[in-house]
Amino acid sequence: MTVALEDVEIDALLDAVYRYYGFDFRQYARPSLRRRLWRRAGLEGTSTISGLQERLLHDRACMESLLLDLSINVTAMFRDPSFYVAFRRTVVPLLRTYPFIRIWNAGCSTGEETHSLAIVLAEEGLLGRTRIYATDINESVLLRAREGVFPLEQMKAYTENYQAAGGTRAFSEYYTAGYGGARFDRSLTEGVVFSRHNLVSDRSFNEFHAIICRNVMIYFDAALQDRVHDLFHESLVRFGLLGLGQKESITFTSHGADYVALDQADRIFRKVR
Ligand SMILES: C[S@@+](CC[C@H](N)C(=O)[O-])C[C@H]1O[C@@H](n2cnc3c(N)ncnc32)[C@H](O)[C@@H]1O
Repeated sequence: MTVALEDVEIDALLDAVYRYYGFDFRQYARPSLRRRLWRRAGLEGTSTISGLQERLLHDRACMESLLLDLSINVTAMFRDPSFYVAFRRTVVPLLRTYPFIRIWNAGCSTGEETHSLAIVLAEEGLLGRTRIYATDINESVLLRAREGVFPLEQMKAYTENYQAAGGTRAFSEYYTAGYGGARFDRSLTEGVVFSRHNLVSDRSFNEFHAIICRNVMIYFDAALQDRVHDLFHESLVRFGLLGLGQKESITFTSHGADYVALDQADRIFRKVR
C-alpha cells in the first residue's frame, strides 16, 4: 500500500503539535483537517505542510491561529430551534425530578448555546437549582462566553430563533444594548462555570443529569467519537440525558445500545444502562 506524501507530512505535523503543545488533532476527520491546514499554510506564506510544521513549532502565534482554524467556533443563540422545543418537552420534565441539577454543555464555543439553555431553564423555573458546566478546548472563546455580550445585529435573527424554540416572552427582556453589543442578563450565568476541557484528552470531572454536545463531534473521526461517547456515558447519572442535536449520531458508536431515543430528529437520548 502506498501512502501519499501529503498524508505522511500531515501525520508528522499532527504528531509534532501534540508532542510540543499537547493539542491532539490526530483523530479529527481528515478532509476538513486537510483543507484547514492548507488554508493556514497559505496564510502563513508557506507552500508545504512540512513548512507549516516548522512555522508552528517556532511561532506560538501561528499555533494559536491554527487552534482557532481547527476549532471552528460557529454558533448561534437557539441554533436549530426545534432542539429547544424537544428539550422543553423531553428533558425538562425529567430534570424537574432532581433537587439539584448538573448540566454539561460540552463544546460551548462563545456561549450562545449556554445562554440559550439558561433562558429555557429560567423560563421553566429550574435555573436557580441548576449548575451548568460550559466547556471548550479554546480559551479565547471561553473569554467571550464569560462576557455574555453578543453582536446587536444578530438580535433580530436570535429573536426569531427564540420564538421558533418555543419562547413566549419578549426576547429583548434578556439583554441590554451597550458594552459594544447586546449584554445578556448576568443572572443567566450566575450558576454557570465556564472552563477549558479537551474532549480528546481530558477526563470526566463530575456526574451530570444532562450533557448537551452539539456540532462538535462532526469534526472527529469514528474512533475519537467513540472515546467521547465513553466519556459521556461515564459522566452521566443513571437515566441521564444526552442531547446531541441534528448532526450527530450515536447509533453506530460503541454506546448505541446504552440509550433510548427521546427525540429522534434532534437526537435526545436517555441512558438506560
Ligand atoms: C461548531 S462549534 C459548536 C458550538 C455549539 N455547541 C453549537 O452547537 O452552536 C464547535 C466547538 O467545539 C469545540 N471543540 C473542538 N474540539 C474540541 C475538543 N477536543 N474539546 C472540546 N471542545 C472542542 C470548538 O472549540 C468549538 O467551539
